[in-house]
Amino acid sequence: MVFQNNETENDYAILQRIFYSKGFDIFDYSLPYIQHRINGRMSALEISSIRDYEKYLFSNTNEYKLLFNVILGKGSQFFRDPEIWEYFRQYILPKVLDNKSPDKEIKIWSVGCASGEEAFSLALMLFDSFGNYIDKNKIMIYATDIDESELRIARNGTFLLDQLSGLPDNLRDQYFLRQGDLYTINDDIRSIITFGRHNILIDPPITNIDLLLCRYVLLYLDPSLIPKALQNLRYALNNGGLLWLGKGERHIDSNKYGFKPFGNKWCFFKKQSIQKHYQTSAIDFNIKDFLSQKAITDNNIYQDIYQ
Ligand SMILES: C[S@@+](CC[C@H](N)C(=O)[O-])C[C@H]1O[C@@H](n2cnc3c(N)ncnc32)[C@H](O)[C@@H]1O
Repeated sequence: MVFQNNETENDYAILQRIFYSKGFDIFDYSLPYIQHRINGRMSALEISSIRDYEKYLFSNTNEYKLLFNVILGKGSQFFRDPEIWEYFRQYILPKVLDNKSPDKEIKIWSVGCASGEEAFSLALMLFDSFGNYIDKNKIMIYATDIDESELRIARNGTFLLDQLSGLPDNLRDQYFLRQGDLYTINDDIRSIITFGRHNILIDPPITNIDLLLCRYVLLYLDPSLIPKALQNLRYALNNGGLLWLGKGERHIDSNKYGFKPFGNKWCFFKKQSIQKHYQTSAIDFNIKDFLSQKAITDNNIYQDIYQ
């Protein structure tokens, strides 16, 4: 089986070709994880070399889908982690809204939105909580993913009953149109969400975001790229804006990346403000080393940068 004891450069070249052919960069993902997943697929198919697996991939488009589904971490659910959504509804959402003057637009971004369930859950919660009081011109949800095939499903907004399992019946009945076995989300919900392709590691971030959901995405990235991803997420947020990570991702060293844990569920992080002109340096190297340089003598500056 590939990559066990006999890794060769050629194996990596083939692997890179497989990734590039679908527009993904192998270096963005954790290599041991990719190897583990490919080994799993190869043994299921009883294929013993990466060359044969590549041939198999090229003649079976469904295998591509299966492989990338496991590597990119596919699968989303409506109201995934319901207890965290409930905490969000009761304690976090009111704070996000209170922070905004009523004439200002609220901008929310779901990064790695997959087939849209997360963004739809958020929009459903807003409609369910505020009903007719929602001003659709004042709430904008951006939902992005690296994978265009997932985004097609999201834009369609049509799901099978099984896929709605996390959704309370009253929301399903009120906001979905049923046609046979299919349930399609209604236009009010859709109208506040914009879906688009975006790679959080290389594309410029959307900016002025008040609330940023990036749940179960960092988990799949190569650990060396997490600082870059967090730097982009931080850049996207307004000062005081909130980042919402998945349960397995909440152990980030938030202070190092300019965030402070917020609330008691350990999934929410508040962006600490950094004076713009120090922004890049403060993230890129240890601030204490920076301050010990002769150029900056004022001891209080640490406080000014991290408020
Ligand atoms: C497990 S799903 C998470 C879906 C949703 N956030 C949730 O929690 O239910 C991970 C998603 O991250 C996307 N993804 C992986 N790498 C990405 C990247 N570099 N930029 C943007 N999205 C990425 C995958 O395509 C996949 O749809």
